Amino acid sequence: MSNTLQKNLNYKKYVIDNRLQYFKPHASRIEKTFAEEISFSLNRHCKFISPKFFYDKKGSDLFEKICMLPEYYPTKTEITILKKLQNELPSYLDKNFRVVELGSGASVKTRIILDIFSQIYDVVEYFPIDISEILAESSESLLKDYDHLHITGIIDTYEGGLEFLKNYDEKKNLILFLGSSFGNFSPVDGHEFLQKINSTMKKGDLFLIGLDLVKDRQILESAYDDSQGITAEFNLNVLSRINDELDADFNLNNFSHHSLYNEHDQRIEMYLKSLVNQSVVISKSDLLLNLEKDELIHTEYSHKYKLSDIHKLLDDVGFDIKHTWLDDKNYFSLTLASKI
Ligand code: TRP
Repeated sequence: MSNTLQKNLNYKKYVIDNRLQYFKPHASRIEKTFAEEISFSLNRHCKFISPKFFYDKKGSDLFEKICMLPEYYPTKTEITILKKLQNELPSYLDKNFRVVELGSGASVKTRIILDIFSQIYDVVEYFPIDISEILAESSESLLKDYDHLHITGIIDTYEGGLEFLKNYDEKKNLILFLGSSFGNFSPVDGHEFLQKINSTMKKGDLFLIGLDLVKDRQILESAYDDSQGITAEFNLNVLSRINDELDADFNLNNFSHHSLYNEHDQRIEMYLKSLVNQSVVISKSDLLLNLEKDELIHTEYSHKYKLSDIHKLLDDVGFDIKHTWLDDKNYFSLTLASKI
């Protein structure tokens, strides 16, 4: 397929051994995008930083910690639901599936799915897509524990990774998008992203999406503002990353973590609040940023859904919903869908 070959020219292939390889876009492409996006997003009246930039090595480690916090129920709940799938998922799979994961990990969640695949297949193929280099570390740890696992990591944005996968081969993909990461998109971007996923799927491919559900405000708000301050540290870390990678001089002491539940829009909103009037230089983005006291930089939405919202979202882009699983408290959901 000349098309595929053409596309893969933008990627460098790293073969580690016969069970592990990576594809990574040429470095200049990643750096340019980061600098440009920051220049655009902080050079506006309503300033924002895309949450995809949270996940450098430190950010990914902090996020792992968030997942274990007593207040942060989504991870634990999703794991409970995934365990229920151990009996039910195989009935949706035939001989020819691999696991593709958007936002990878050596996490308990990935392992539950790999356990299910290990029962069905002699060789399990896993394609994690992640912009963070943590992918390398987590792959090594998975390979130690799974003898028949072959990993092809794609170190890129979700969009890049999906595009890379399109027409890759004839094998069917079970695409995992867990952790309610979808809820971090704006509704418009989310719709577009689902369309993107749908359009890169072959007939017969499956999509498993984990989404957080609307619930009591207090439960939601403490999940995103924990008592140990790990979420605050995670939010502020994006400024350190900009300092390191884009040659900037943010003083982290001049910012605080600010989050709230917006009931009307069914979402947690997260911001970095400027505690003083200040100017910040971001050299590689060619930007002198002026912030007023109390000015907010938006960093994250985390949308919460009703079951009817989920069905409409998937319906609208042409997915065929196979099943939705819930936990006992109806806190979280997993939905399996195919392409019509
Ligand atoms: N997808 C996760 C969520 O929306 C991401 C997340 C959890 C997160 N906690 C966070 C992002 C704190 C930023 C800050 O629940």
